Amino acid sequence: MGKTIIISNRLPVQLQINNGGIDAVPSVGGLATGMKSVHSGGESLWIGWSGLTDEDIPPELENDIDKALKKNGCSKVRLNAQEIDGFYFGFSNRTVWPLFHYFLEYSEFELDFWNTYKSVNQKFADAIIENSGEDDTIWVHDYQLMLVPQMVREKRPNTTIGFFLHIPFPSYEIFRTLPWREEILEGLLGSDLIGFHTYDYERHFLSSVRRLLGLEVSFNEIFMENRVIKVDSFPMGIDYKKFKNAAKSHQQNNEGEQSDLQKRLDSHKASAPDTKLILSIDRLDYSKGIAKRLNAFEYFLNKYPEYKEKVRLIILAVPSRSNVPQYQLLKREIDELVGRINGEFSTVNWTPIWYFYRSMPFENLIDLYTNSDIAWLTPLRDGMNLVAKEYIATRTDKTGVLILSEMAGSAYEMNEALLINPNNFEEQADTLQKAINMPVEEQKSRNTFLQNRLERYNVEVWANEFMNALNQKPELGHAFISQ
Ligand code: ADP
Ligand code: G6P
Repeated sequence: MGKTIIISNRLPVQLQINNGGIDAVPSVGGLATGMKSVHSGGESLWIGWSGLTDEDIPPELENDIDKALKKNGCSKVRLNAQEIDGFYFGFSNRTVWPLFHYFLEYSEFELDFWNTYKSVNQKFADAIIENSGEDDTIWVHDYQLMLVPQMVREKRPNTTIGFFLHIPFPSYEIFRTLPWREEILEGLLGSDLIGFHTYDYERHFLSSVRRLLGLEVSFNEIFMENRVIKVDSFPMGIDYKKFKNAAKSHQQNNEGEQSDLQKRLDSHKASAPDTKLILSIDRLDYSKGIAKRLNAFEYFLNKYPEYKEKVRLIILAVPSRSNVPQYQLLKREIDELVGRINGEFSTVNWTPIWYFYRSMPFENLIDLYTNSDIAWLTPLRDGMNLVAKEYIATRTDKTGVLILSEMAGSAYEMNEALLINPNNFEEQADTLQKAINMPVEEQKSRNTFLQNRLERYNVEVWANEFMNALNQKPELGHAFISQ
């Protein structure tokens, strides 16, 4: 059997040029953090974009870049600034991302974006052909590369190709507004197996295939002229042990080894031992509902004034896609909201919101997870939301309360969390109040269920289940042809 080729736009590391040298920094986002654990444990090659455009790369650094990527088991697809504009900032993040997250009014249908998306997908397909053999297994990831399976299939009719979508697949009524809807479906159908986080996304996809392409669909199979394509849901897990062990060693660290952030958290605890810390971590993205969360927090402080000086909201927003106008507008809106709420409610001893707009090293994420009494995650739509799972995994003493939007894919598996509708401020204010007062025994009982499930269905199991299903595919195809 050959090797596995993982292919995604975002590699697990992003390269940056610093003082004439190359720095490799970990990528943020569920795809990269989840697949990183799968990749590091096996013999796979990961192909993707390095994070640098051709224009960014001085010719003398070309070799260093290839070496830095090779060290991480990766190989790059070269993209110039114009391609990144049309393919990444354009079709991927101004057309598909908003549409698939039900922000129809943000979705731009630009022919130039579409043409660049097609040509860049062809570049990724060519890179696969160049770097793989007939018996290698190809695993394509996410909405940036939905045409790649069919493009590879044309050159390699017998290769095994899997595709996994890390974001929601929207309902037929939303999807059908896309001018290039048939081409996207046909691109995906080059795969042998198409995976989604939840059964709902799978169902929406099958419905679009049936209604737009008129193909025969039965349960979780799609019948084409000479092939059967399997479709299934595989909710992505996390590297549970990594988070649990990091939290354990965090607790064992003595003072000298503490990060500056941990020292700040400790001094906060010492000066205000009764104050509950409420945490939210997201990329700064409109799908994450950060602005609504801030409004809901204001609503909570007005409805329950007795919690003034007794709670603090920590918002960690990671810069993301900042060339896209909607993200720039959102950044401004959040800055203003944080300023207004802090201005309105702060006292000499208390600032209600601590707001960080930056990426943080893994150690600091663990500091935040382990110190927070409540995690409050309110996406308006989210394919999965791994932050919810990571928070629970770090709660080694089983305390802590997770408040999670029912619009996140992870809510399907996390029933013991306090599930909320992010548009309902009344419900959120009451849920925050409930979380603050939840007895420790109840916290422990809820988290025991959640932790057991996350430990069992971790990211390795997720990847194995996908690969096992993918490798069963050729037999299905043969059975169909011989009928
Ligand atoms: P999305 O994929 O939409 O960004 P997820 O919640 O599924 O949302 O995944 C986010 C991932 O990014 C998580 O694995 C989380 O640990 C990581 N992450 C979030 N914030 C940071 C940060 N500030 N620094 C580093 N990694 C982060
Ligand atoms: C989500 C997407 C990923 C993407 C990540 C970060 O998780 O599903 O495909 O990599 O967000 O976004 P970015 O645009 O920085 O790659």
